[in-house]
Amino acid sequence: MCGIIGILGNRPVVPLLIDALKRLEYRGYDSAGIATLVNGHIDRRRAQGKLQNLEARLDREPLGGTVGIGHTRWATHGRPNEANAHPHANERVAVVHNGIIENFRPLRAELEQNGRRFETETDTEAVAHLLAHHLDRQMTPEEAVMATLARLEGAFALAIIFAGRHDLVIGARRGSPLAVGYGDGELFIGSDALALAPLTSRICYLEEGDWTVLRNGTATIFDSHNRRVDRPISQTRLSGALIGKGGYRHYMQKEIFEQPAVIGDTVRSYLNPLTREVTLPECGVDLASVPRLAISACGTAFYAGLVGRYWLESLARLPVEADVASEFRYREAPLPEGGAALFISQSGETIDTLAALRYAKTQGQHILAIVNQAESAIAREADTLLPTLAGPEIGVASTKAFTTQLTVLACLAIRLAHDRGRITPTQRLALSEALIELPTLAAQVLQHDEAVAAIARELAEVRDVLYLGRGTMYPLALEGALKLKEISYIHADGYPAGEMKHGPIALIEDGTPVIVCGPSGPLFEKTVGNVQEAAARGGRVILLTDAAGRAELGDSAAHVIELPSADPFVAPILYALPIQLLAYHAAVTKGTDVDQPRNLAKSVTVE
Ligand code: G6P
Repeated sequence: MCGIIGILGNRPVVPLLIDALKRLEYRGYDSAGIATLVNGHIDRRRAQGKLQNLEARLDREPLGGTVGIGHTRWATHGRPNEANAHPHANERVAVVHNGIIENFRPLRAELEQNGRRFETETDTEAVAHLLAHHLDRQMTPEEAVMATLARLEGAFALAIIFAGRHDLVIGARRGSPLAVGYGDGELFIGSDALALAPLTSRICYLEEGDWTVLRNGTATIFDSHNRRVDRPISQTRLSGALIGKGGYRHYMQKEIFEQPAVIGDTVRSYLNPLTREVTLPECGVDLASVPRLAISACGTAFYAGLVGRYWLESLARLPVEADVASEFRYREAPLPEGGAALFISQSGETIDTLAALRYAKTQGQHILAIVNQAESAIAREADTLLPTLAGPEIGVASTKAFTTQLTVLACLAIRLAHDRGRITPTQRLALSEALIELPTLAAQVLQHDEAVAAIARELAEVRDVLYLGRGTMYPLALEGALKLKEISYIHADGYPAGEMKHGPIALIEDGTPVIVCGPSGPLFEKTVGNVQEAAARGGRVILLTDAAGRAELGDSAAHVIELPSADPFVAPILYALPIQLLAYHAAVTKGTDVDQPRNLAKSVTVE
């Protein structure tokens, strides 16, 4: 996945392109590039690596022009070097692309036979050559785009400029998002509304298969059958200001420390603190009577879904299945009539999650979505949107999005448990109370930052780490391992504590860190046994528990991180915080790029 931007402007375009790319860098940072029209000719600057490399390049070799396109890359086809960086250009066009052109090999062979010379390993270059091929045959730019789109298979959002045409930018989308922005005598296209926010607040989202011609102050939109269509223009509420680190060293650190506030915001948007009642957005179906719920998501959002499954099954007694979206979309799961499907996503743009949502739609499911970006594709395509109020999350490793997703799931579980008659009013009150207390407890947990940092410094030295948990702490173990892997590049595995003896115990040797998420509560006694098994084999146990847990098991652990005692219901939300801090400090100790770890991107818009 990548971020793209196109501007048909009336002032120097390079600073605008760079500003937009800064806001798109979460989509990839393998390379960046821009192309503009200078005296009718296409000129471009590209650089491997982060956007700052491109900025440095532009300082040395400035670029003019009022019309241009830009790209920030997450490599799919071709190494992340400068040659493969977008825009891809020839004498006639320059193209930026988000997505994958699946039939680029036959296209390339055909174009090479026609005498066109390829310079890169990318799929996108075939698009640039195909356009030039059609233009060479006297087609207008619009005709060339139509003819090119008809040949492309796969997913794409494209922005194209044409040599000699200062009055024209064309964009197209199929499978990847693209928004049109309307400015004062200027027009924009971009991968998301966030990129366009400093330029305009008037946004129109292209629909699947649409393409648009920006010319003479007008964006003319065509559908996949090349018929002229009108798409609604809305007012985006996204802020045009770039988000700062607020005095923190990294976005991830800032976002970890924002959690008491954003968990509180999210709780209050669903749970009335006076009546203790949970209110869900009006959804037109009786959720309490759905026979089954299918949860699907990717990465950290999937682990939130796994916790949700425990809550919804045990509290509301609702049958739930949970799958990673990339499997769910192809599993062809039979979904029951009258059922519902829930999709969880911070960005709302993850292609596998979106495709899973569309599959569930074809199966007649009522679509619920827990999403942080309210203007995203998943939010727009859902029947019922359950927003998280995490605010913009910039660090690639998800933190506050995760805990606010859990918060919404907890509210959903309380509401459904109540509506399905599975909890008493007293139980409902206690669960709601626990959620209301959560921000205070989360703030207390964050006071352990220094102590956690000291333990994390030891982790930075090791090769393997094992995370264990039972019940709702099992997905937390998975999340802990994922966080550590993502940002510190230390190998880590998350396991259900009871499953350790069936394999991972073989990994434990003298000093192997075993991080145990073990609040006291119904499953604690079982966890005790597993901790002792690990310690007996030389495992260096790092125990996350509360005072009662420490009293019972503290002696077997090398380190104990003691968290406040809380209702076991909210423990997964609370225990997420030290898990995040451990990974964060381990990564800082190792000196990795915490906010933009290698090979990753915040929003994955390719399969
Ligand atoms: C990427 C990110 C993860 C995130 C996942 C799902 O892999 O690096 O942090 O959990 O995508 O993203 P979503 O936006 O759908 O929550």
